Amino acid sequence: NNYCVIMGGGIGSRFWPFSKEDRPKQFLDFFGTGRSLLQSTYDRFKKIIPVENIFVVTNDAYAELTLKQLPELSKEQVLLEPLRRNTAPAIAYSLFHIQAINPEANIVVAPSDHLILKEDLFLSEIERGLDFVEKHPVLLTLGIKPNRPETGYGYIQESNEEVDGIRKVKTFTEKPNLELARVFYESGEFVWNSGIFLWNVKAILEAFKIHLPDIVNKFNEGREFFNTPREKEFIDQAFPFCSSISIDYGIMEKADNVYVIGSDFGWSDLGTWGSLHEITPKDENNNASLHCKTLYVESNDNVVAMSDDKLVVIQGLEGYIVAESEKALLICKKEEEQRIKHFVTDVKFRF
Ligand code: GDD
Ligand code: MG
Repeated sequence: NNYCVIMGGGIGSRFWPFSKEDRPKQFLDFFGTGRSLLQSTYDRFKKIIPVENIFVVTNDAYAELTLKQLPELSKEQVLLEPLRRNTAPAIAYSLFHIQAINPEANIVVAPSDHLILKEDLFLSEIERGLDFVEKHPVLLTLGIKPNRPETGYGYIQESNEEVDGIRKVKTFTEKPNLELARVFYESGEFVWNSGIFLWNVKAILEAFKIHLPDIVNKFNEGREFFNTPREKEFIDQAFPFCSSISIDYGIMEKADNVYVIGSDFGWSDLGTWGSLHEITPKDENNNASLHCKTLYVESNDNVVAMSDDKLVVIQGLEGYIVAESEKALLICKKEEEQRIKHFVTDVKFRF
């Protein structure tokens, strides 16, 4: 009864200019391992979930790229959205599809842009979580011990209530501002939301009914088309009616049956240049370089990334991102990196 949905439809705009609309970060092989982030995510889950139960939900624009990178998947396992509506509608679509195959399904939903170092531990937590949601009608997420007041994540406060050794969530706050993130971080009472969710299909659809009824109502109109040849046609006409909202804001912040497994499996969200800075080896002045050789003079706390093996000299720079791709250059204060996605919304940046 176990299924996996990999979300792969984001554009990764905070990782501009490496990540671009026509080839977002999940399709890139960041570390030269020979496998993209999407492929690595798939490789991980296939160790515990039957391949035929793994789905990717993504945008029409990435259909070909997805099937090319994951040739083991059939076309039916790649669920395609006609336009971007963020993660809640994408997840709802996959729920309706899987429910039509197996109304008892336990599902793990995962982003496609994470780095996980301790894979064995990660997989055993996933198996534990899947067992838990089979027994309990709750929404479960994996939580990570924070190491900085990052504003790009969700913050979870655990309660003292426990079921089978798993904590109930007291509050869930998606992407707090820096002031609040500092309070959360310094209190020591919060974990980050990893964005990896586990639930039984019935429990999460119940939550959609309560918190995002418009989306379920819309999809219910075409209930009989899911997992049939008419599914795509239905989705293409229904999707534009869905509001654009993430699962975190739409459901996780509001639901009162959220549980969390706090763990430490060497997790990193490759969401921004700052997160890459966190995980790459750094010199004694906390400077990181990717795909280049950099001479740092009187400089600290920078991340410099080039598309080829350039030589770079940096003098007198502190706390900056310098990232170059074939056709673009970004220079941005590291602490302002969440704004990159707003800087590059203009169409001329989507080369
Ligand atoms: N199919 C589809 N459609 N996938 C999408 C869409 C969409 O419209 N938008 C984003 N995704 C995919 C991304 O490719 C990524 O794999 C995943 O959904 C999560 O989206 P992000 O945009 O990366 O979310 P985030 O990093 O800002 O925040 C989420 O993850 C954090 C941890 O990494 C939240 O769950 C936070 O609470 C969490 O802390
Ligand atoms: Mg992310």
